[in-house]
Amino acid sequence: ECVILAYSGGLDTSCILKWLLDKDYKVVCYIADVGQDEDFDTVKTKALKIGAHDVVIDDLKVTFIQDYIFPAIQAGLLYESRYLLGTALARPCISIGLIKCYLQHGAQYISHGATGKGNDQVRFELSCYSLCPSLRVIAPWRDPEFTLKFQGRKDLLSFAARNGIPVSATPSAPWSTDANLMHISYESGILENPANEGPSDLYTMTSNLEETPDDPYFLEITFKSGIPSSLGLRNNERIKNVLDMYMALNQIGGIHGIGRIDIVENRFIGLKSRGIYESPGAHILHTAHKDLEIFCLDKEIYRIKQNLSEKLSECVYNGFWFSPEADYLRNCTAIAQEMVSGTVKLKIFKGNVFVLGRYSDISLYNEDLVSMDRHADFTPADATGFINIHAIRLKEYYRYKNQRNKH
Ligand code: ARG
Ligand code: SIN
Repeated sequence: ECVILAYSGGLDTSCILKWLLDKDYKVVCYIADVGQDEDFDTVKTKALKIGAHDVVIDDLKVTFIQDYIFPAIQAGLLYESRYLLGTALARPCISIGLIKCYLQHGAQYISHGATGKGNDQVRFELSCYSLCPSLRVIAPWRDPEFTLKFQGRKDLLSFAARNGIPVSATPSAPWSTDANLMHISYESGILENPANEGPSDLYTMTSNLEETPDDPYFLEITFKSGIPSSLGLRNNERIKNVLDMYMALNQIGGIHGIGRIDIVENRFIGLKSRGIYESPGAHILHTAHKDLEIFCLDKEIYRIKQNLSEKLSECVYNGFWFSPEADYLRNCTAIAQEMVSGTVKLKIFKGNVFVLGRYSDISLYNEDLVSMDRHADFTPADATGFINIHAIRLKEYYRYKNQRNKH
């Protein structure tokens, strides 16, 4: 029987590969390129050497941006007010690739190296079940036979040594990372104690503020219906290609130390976990989009959309990218975002994204109406009535409260 293994080339999935082979499965390794800094040829050679039947390297970078990152920016997704969801968004994207590979190979199982305590197991499996209901999953980190054999990193290392599995010469960092175009995450190991500061050499996408340039960087981002459509740089260059645009934003943001967070978050299964994240490009886009959105959208639509955004953030975090509720929320979002087109001018400096101005052909902003020197369809006297009516409830409440306090 054939298994498609979501393979990273790391120690865990390499041992899983060998373990599956020892159980007489035919194993095809699936490697998604979602923009992580990786030498894919080396990873492929490694999988073949261990005994993989085939290795599929799938370039998902553009899909990841167009179908996941940009819609997330459009919807303003932010989990627990801070996390831009870099890992959570990559999971359904990778799952589509996994399923394609699974169908092409006529496989019977998919397998992954996510642990039994995390979000990723839920995200991968819910996505895969939605895309292919008949599929079956092998999750070694939840299989008592596997976990008895591999109780810690030491067991993995000695298994690798016994089985000729190459282990990278550089000792691996004392934390775990997950990287893609949108972000890098750091968790576990020495970071598990939430009081421990992340060491300054942990960061890979962004510079420490002490080392960022003393000159600001100016740029302009244009959105069409809430989706980033072009990036204007200070040398008058304009970038429209989505991958070039995204990489430029990551680079500029990275140099200026944009988009680092250190948080404790609530995992879906109920555990709290500490994570450090870097997402320079996404942070810039999120800030720009937020500004343009308030500029363009009707006030009440904006408020409803905020609630939907929080709801969709939770769906995405919990692994329900493919679900009736997420479909519904995305459709609602897209309707509201038809109004969100225009350009935001930004200054990037010392870890901050400053909005300098915004422009739109279709904004509801009306300079004539808001201006102090012109009369609109109402007179200042109307505002007196507006205030009086609102004051009714407040006067009653405080009259009552003051009376009670006297007794
Ligand atoms: N805590 C983050 C999330 O749930 C990051 C997870 C990182 N995943 C990993 N396999 N290292 O989205
Ligand atoms: C894992 O447990 O596999 C990584 C962390 C997570 O999925 O939340």
